[in-house]
Amino acid sequence: MLLDPDRIAALARQHEFDCQYLERTDSTNDDAVDWFRQQGSNVVVIAETQSAGRGRRGREWVSPYARNLYCSVAIELSISERQLALLSLYTGLNLCRSLHQMGYQPVRLKWPNDLVIERRKLGGILVEVKPLAGGKRLLVIGFGINVLMSEEELADIGQPSASLAQFDASQPDRSLLLERLLDSLLPALNRYPDNQLSEIDREFALQDAYAGELVEVSLEDRLIRGVNHGINELGQLCLQTDEGMEFFPVGELSLRPSQS
Ligand code: BTN
Repeated sequence: MLLDPDRIAALARQHEFDCQYLERTDSTNDDAVDWFRQQGSNVVVIAETQSAGRGRRGREWVSPYARNLYCSVAIELSISERQLALLSLYTGLNLCRSLHQMGYQPVRLKWPNDLVIERRKLGGILVEVKPLAGGKRLLVIGFGINVLMSEEELADIGQPSASLAQFDASQPDRSLLLERLLDSLLPALNRYPDNQLSEIDREFALQDAYAGELVEVSLEDRLIRGVNHGINELGQLCLQTDEGMEFFPVGELSLRPSQS
């Protein structure tokens, strides 16, 4: 079954967003930017498939037709550099909370932007920032969540991956999922500029898939191994290494469990 664009559009309107539904596209993140530049309004773009879906670090985001959720929210906001650095964690925590409320209790976060379930990748968030006239910025928050992919399809992704259907006795309804996710995320984004984010490190600690574990990050030509102490108030990853506590900004880094 395809998504129900009228339901999603009605929900988006309640939170003062337009909605664009595309059966096929390259990347909903790009469509969201195009929409904003042409219409000048905040928008939610959803698609059934993407031919050039992208993840962080130039990776492809596998986007088979009518199986998963591919969604981008474009919103014009004035926010500080700290708020910008925390935006993907804020989004991830919001999505994670909604998925728990829908009964997907084992969903966790992997710093900085992955949704995981039993340590397999369930979804990801890609935040992009576009300059606008007058020094303003457009924030594009794209997320993809695997919903109906089969074991065979997941095996082709190239990293351990999961989909919600594996954790649900009945077939998940993608439109309902999207409605519930957006009903929480859109108002949270609207109020983001006023958010003090004082609780984000504590909330992340509760959802951190690798809390207290030996993990590693690769930084240029260095592999840094340490015990994961979660994030600080800037969203930086805190690792207790042989050199002491080291901090890593949200950027082009990814964490993985230590190989040794
Ligand atoms: C990651 O884990 O690396 C981020 C993945 C983000 C994928 C979503 S799908 C909707 C939106 N459009 C894109 O091209 N990417 C994001």
